[in-house]
Amino acid sequence: MSTTETTPESTLTLYERIGGAAAVEAAVEVFYKKALADYRVYRYFDGVDTEKLIAKQKAFFTLAFGGPNNYTGADLRTAHSRLVKMGLGNDQFNVILEHLGDTLKELKVPQDLIEEVLTLAESTRNDVLGK
Ligand code: HEM
Repeated sequence: MSTTETTPESTLTLYERIGGAAAVEAAVEVFYKKALADYRVYRYFDGVDTEKLIAKQKAFFTLAFGGPNNYTGADLRTAHSRLVKMGLGNDQFNVILEHLGDTLKELKVPQDLIEEVLTLAESTRNDVLGK
């Protein structure tokens, strides 16, 4: 009999199942290029410094993967309020979800996990858009 303890798949969080911090690093890399090259959303990233953008992307993915983070709805509201004044709305939110899904697909994340991530991201819509 083995004494090695293994964690059943079902008790792992989405963040763990997707690959944790390493998956966040990989996703940031791919997603960042897509969002900044997209004429439908790049103006919102204008003037935000690179350090801050990378930190933002990491926080974004950690949150989207259901991982450890300190963000609340109120923080998401505050973080995006300037962008909402610039016109950020459902259309731009949808574009970001599209890039999120495409990024995970490219990284060969299984479809069921992609669905979970998109559902989680969708749940932040009203906060991000200040509704
Ligand atoms: C699933 C939806 C989203 C989540 C979970 C999310 C997450 C975050 C977080 C956590 C921050 C704060 C980073 C920090 O300052 O520490 C942030 C900032 C930011 N987000 Fe999002 N975001 C979402 C949607 C969007 C959309 C749709 C856009 C634009 C098209 C966007 C553009 C930005 C920009 C430009 C900042 C930096 C704002 C600034 O420094 O003034 N985000 N986001």
